[in-house]
Formats: sequence, structure tokens, C-alpha cells
Amino acid sequence: MSGLDTAGLDWEALRDLRQGFLHGMDADYWLSSELIDQYDRTFGERIGWKWDHVLSDLRMLGWAPPSGPVVDWACGSGVAGRRFGAAFGGDRPLYLRDRSALAVRYAARRAREAGLEVLEGATAGGVLLVSHVLNELDDSALDGLVALANRMDAVVWVEPGDRATSRRLSTVRSRIDLSPVAPCTHSGACPMLEPDHERHWCHQFGAPPPEAFTDRGWGEFANKIGVDLRSLPLSYLVLDARCGTGSGSRIIGRPKVYKAHATVLLCDETGLKEVRVGKGRLPSAFRAARKDQLGSRVDCVVRDDEVLEWNDGAPVL
Ligand SMILES: C[S@@+](CC[C@H](N)C(=O)[O-])C[C@H]1O[C@@H](n2cnc3c(N)ncnc32)[C@H](O)[C@@H]1O
Repeated sequence: MSGLDTAGLDWEALRDLRQGFLHGMDADYWLSSELIDQYDRTFGERIGWKWDHVLSDLRMLGWAPPSGPVVDWACGSGVAGRRFGAAFGGDRPLYLRDRSALAVRYAARRAREAGLEVLEGATAGGVLLVSHVLNELDDSALDGLVALANRMDAVVWVEPGDRATSRRLSTVRSRIDLSPVAPCTHSGACPMLEPDHERHWCHQFGAPPPEAFTDRGWGEFANKIGVDLRSLPLSYLVLDARCGTGSGSRIIGRPKVYKAHATVLLCDETGLKEVRVGKGRLPSAFRAARKDQLGSRVDCVVRDDEVLEWNDGAPVL
């Protein structure tokens, strides 16, 4: 991890990109490899922090990718493929796909510089990586991507943590014929999609690296682009033909902290439920909730919405 060198950044172009990401863009927006490089150093790096969070959650679960190639679909500057290679070893061939040939060329060069083997042509099987593209896909493009996912052995898909994108990702889950590994702790229907739960969405918060708070370059980026780097909301989905979920419950979003208790939204095989963590009964879990350090999985005993026992980190796969 390192600071952000802002020399030469085209703030206007980066602001335009961000507006496009937030409000949607139909046409190919990668107009130059300089712009892709600026994206990679800024937005792409922040997306890399989200990948770090997801890949570390997978390692804690004891998950390792199946053998075979890795496909980074809609690769952009190729952050996902590089982060995945760094986390799980770069001995799997990497295939890069994007509607922009310029992006594929940039991502291939950076991946090779990182020691990864990049291949061209078609492949099936292995691991599909998808990152930050869902809100750019119409239904027919998404159908094509789902069909590709159904030909793979595993899928790791990371998206922003907003409600609309996350809920769309939840609908994708049931269309891919692989077992959910994470964030799900069960393979039943996604509780978020039940009519009673429309106001909820499956999202977590990663931990930004220290330089997001301390580095002058990142501070300038946050001010000029209007991104709050202290918060790293994300949604994700990991599916695998070989294994199913661990157990326990997934903590959704952030706890709400009151004077004598915190409420935490949990998702598990019994569905979605809001539970109370009492300051008196569970002082250390309450303290962790207050400091936003609860972790993201828990094994707990609940009676009448009151948590009686709280054990951080559910069992591994
Ligand atoms: C916001 S960028 C994300 C890039 C990269 N995955 C990341 O996480 O940094 C979205 C990428 O999706 C690509 N894209 C959009 N629609 C696509 C489509 N229908 N087929 C292939 N690539 C597409 C864009 O060209 C762009 O590179």
C-alpha cells in the first residue's frame, strides 16, 4: 500500500468519470490509456481495497480457488485480476475481457508486469472475476454474463455497496448454478428479496488502509472528487461448484448503537433478523459494535431477538 501521487491527474476527467459511474454510461468511456492509468491509480486502487477485504474474508473462511484459468470480465484497468493473483498465487493463466480493447491492452501489460501469465482466446471453467460493472449492464448483457458464470467453476463478484446494485446482485445469485460461499452463510433463497425486506440490501464495509486517512494525495483526491474515503461500502458474491457455505450469521451493514444496547441485522438460514446486543450481557460485543469493529460473521445464540452468546468469526468451510 502506498500514498497517491496526484501529479498529472486530470481532475476534470476523473470527476466526469465518477459522474458517469454514478449515473450510468452507455458508450465506451476509455478514451485513452492515460485515462485508464489515472483510473487505476485512484478509483481502481480504492476498488482494490474492496477486493482485499473480500479476499481476506475468503481466506479466513478457508476458501481457495479451484485450479484452472482466471477470467477478469469487464476488467477495466485489471485491478481484480491483479489483486486475485497476488492473493492466491499467480500460476493460473489470466484471461482479460472488456468491451474496450484499450482497457484489455492496459490490463494485460499491468498483469504481465505483476508476473501473471496473460492468455488470449476463449476459455471455459476456472474462476470468473467480475467487478464494478453491474450498473453498466442492460438485461441482455447481464444474461450473457450469467451464462458465462454458469460455465465456470467459481465466481467472485464485487460491486459497490449501494442498495440498487446490491439488490440486483442478489437476484443474480439464484440464476447461477453454483453454491453460495460468501457472504451467504446458507444456500437457501436470498432473504433480502423477500417482500418484507425491500428496504434492506446485502452490504458490508471494508477497512480502508491507513493511507486513506493520512496521505496528502488521497486527501486531495477525496476533496476534489467528493469521495468519502473513510467508508468502504461494498456488496459481493462468491459461488463455487465444489463447496457450500460455512455456518453462522452474516452481519449486514453497520450496527445501530444506543445507550444500553446495539441492534445488528443478521442474515442466516433462518432469514433476516434484527437482534439486540445488550451492553450489560455482552460488554465486549457491545464495545465492538460502538467502535464499528464487529467483524462480518458471527456465531451467536439468540432468544426473542436478544443475543445471549456472541462468538466472532463463524466456523470455516
Ligand atoms: C467501472 S469499470 C470497472 C473496471 C474493473 N472491473 C474494476 O473493477 O476496476 C467497468 C468496466 O466494464 C466495461 N464494460 C461495460 N459494459 C461492458 C460489456 N457489456 N461488456 C464488456 N465490458 C463492459 C467497461 O469498459 C469498463 O472497463
